[in-house]
Amino acid sequence: MNAITSLEQYLQQQQRKDLLRFITCGSVDDGKSTLIGRLLFETKVLFEDQLGQLEVDSKKLGTQGGELDFALLVDGLAAEREQGITIDVAYRFFATDKRKFIVADTPGHEQYTRNMVTGASTADLAVILIDARQGLLAQTRRHSYLVSLLGIRQVLVAVNKMDLMDYSEEVFRRIETDYRAFAEKLGLTDVQCIPLSALRGDNLIERSNSMPWYRGPSLLEHLESAPLDDNRASQAPFRLPVQWVNRPNLDFRGFAGNVAAGSIRVGDPIRVLPSGKQSRVSGVLGMAGAQREAVCGQAVTLTLDDEIDISRGDVIALADAPPAVADQFEATLVWMSEEPLLPGRPYLMKIGCRTLGMSCATLKHKVNVNTLEHLAARTLELNEIGVGNLSLDQPIPFDAYADNRDTGGFIVIDRLSNQTVGAGMLHFALRRAQNVHWQAIDVDGAARAALKGQTPRMLWFTGLSGAGKSTIANLVERKLHALGRHTYLLDGDNVRHGLNRDLGFSEADRVENIRRVAEVGRLMLDAGLITLVSFISPFRAERDLARSLAGEGTFLEIFVDTPLALAEQRDPKGLYQKARCGELKNFTGIDSPYEPPLAPDLHIDTRSESAEAAAERIVEHLLAQ
Ligand code: ADX
Repeated sequence: MNAITSLEQYLQQQQRKDLLRFITCGSVDDGKSTLIGRLLFETKVLFEDQLGQLEVDSKKLGTQGGELDFALLVDGLAAEREQGITIDVAYRFFATDKRKFIVADTPGHEQYTRNMVTGASTADLAVILIDARQGLLAQTRRHSYLVSLLGIRQVLVAVNKMDLMDYSEEVFRRIETDYRAFAEKLGLTDVQCIPLSALRGDNLIERSNSMPWYRGPSLLEHLESAPLDDNRASQAPFRLPVQWVNRPNLDFRGFAGNVAAGSIRVGDPIRVLPSGKQSRVSGVLGMAGAQREAVCGQAVTLTLDDEIDISRGDVIALADAPPAVADQFEATLVWMSEEPLLPGRPYLMKIGCRTLGMSCATLKHKVNVNTLEHLAARTLELNEIGVGNLSLDQPIPFDAYADNRDTGGFIVIDRLSNQTVGAGMLHFALRRAQNVHWQAIDVDGAARAALKGQTPRMLWFTGLSGAGKSTIANLVERKLHALGRHTYLLDGDNVRHGLNRDLGFSEADRVENIRRVAEVGRLMLDAGLITLVSFISPFRAERDLARSLAGEGTFLEIFVDTPLALAEQRDPKGLYQKARCGELKNFTGIDSPYEPPLAPDLHIDTRSESAEAAAERIVEHLLAQ
């Protein structure tokens, strides 16, 4: 028997068995590694490299003689996986005669939330470990809360180390009662509690004689019989987030991705979101070639009757059951970064196969994971969970996370570091957004600018307090005014007397300060004005936001570069002195950061250039453009 045949047989045999995905929550101290180690030892472990080899070999099989390059499809999907976030989650594969399993094992250090959210996103069940000696801990509650948020409906509570508590029924029952009371508050109803000792193997694989009072299943028996959670997604309306447009030659155009929900057959009418364009399915290609139907969980390529424009990130849906499309939502956010979530700050959202601009417009509350109490919040810190309103820079097709984890779950990425900083679940679209439409106005920005005979520009001055921003901006405005230009100067200190009177100097307030002035600046541009903005604007993210609101080419970032020591020496308002003696908190450069521009359009070194010369140079630069 050659290797390929045995491999094929093996694959077929494995394919017939169903697959349960689960996640383990707990720390090393709870005996998690022992539990998993023993489970793997006692069952048939499919090593990851072995699986990798299977994938490589099946790829080879797939490409032989086929007209279409199916390997390409696999490659496309693999590339997608690689682009995904790299996280400390070990996926382990094992099998018994009844079932295959994938367990996402997440290490229990402080980055836990991030790992858990990633590992849990596809899980059917969560195993929550409790040390029988300790009972319910804060982390048990926090893990259970996350499990419920992530939409995992089945929980197996492994009450471990029963051997150290003399296999006491009383101890077990008390923990079970405590847990069920908490689980009920979370809406987790499918809870199985099992007393065990991972170390001694009690109730792990086989039922133990040490606890005759327990009549339920062993851990493995429960895992083997727990219902799979595919039903929810497979019965939902069809969704295919397009991952990749496959165009090997001019005669073929296929749309590849993983079916996130439902099923579709050749001939079915479809609708593409967000464009709303319609067509019919002309073909379904799977790993093994043409098939009549595509079902939930499969990686497929669809071909359509009509040549319609579809790109990566679009969603193909059944024509009569399309997802809604919106750009403002209420959502739960789970924060995973040392840098807090700041409302108003621009982030990226990755949802399905789409990445787009996002910000949290308001935080409604955060949640105390022990008591489930709602607390007022202005930011979300590492590992905190809250609910807020999100605003996106373009409309997306979506489902509520409760209906579909793929089209309703997302991650948040920092624009500058490209790190994953949060994850979230969409609740619903904000109706107010649906009822506010952009009003077309006949006299537009171009008309207003033409009447003034000028090209609107945004001159953005950034630098430390006392750097000389306002002095230079003031000179520039005078010169432009003398040249007959229509201008407006927005100055930090002045705007903080009115529009931004409610804001202080915390990071969150500065973000909001800049967001507002960037929006006001945009209106001024639309009014046809040359707009000067003179704010410390200490953060790159918000300056980038201002640039994108104004538009590339319209925005000039002017870095008024004065070293801290010099600004402090000048100290025109005596504020540095106050900050140094602790009378003024969060002072930029002292105990609040300033992120200098990396590539400003104009760099003014105030040590070598006078304010007058700098202003002259800025005006020249502007007029030469
Ligand atoms: S920003 O950081 O949010 O962009 P903005 O430019 O509006 O600041 O306001 C800065 C001005 O507020 C400074 O020029 C200074 O006069 C005053 N100010 C008062 N407290 C602070 C502080 N803690 N840090 C910086 N500036 C402060």
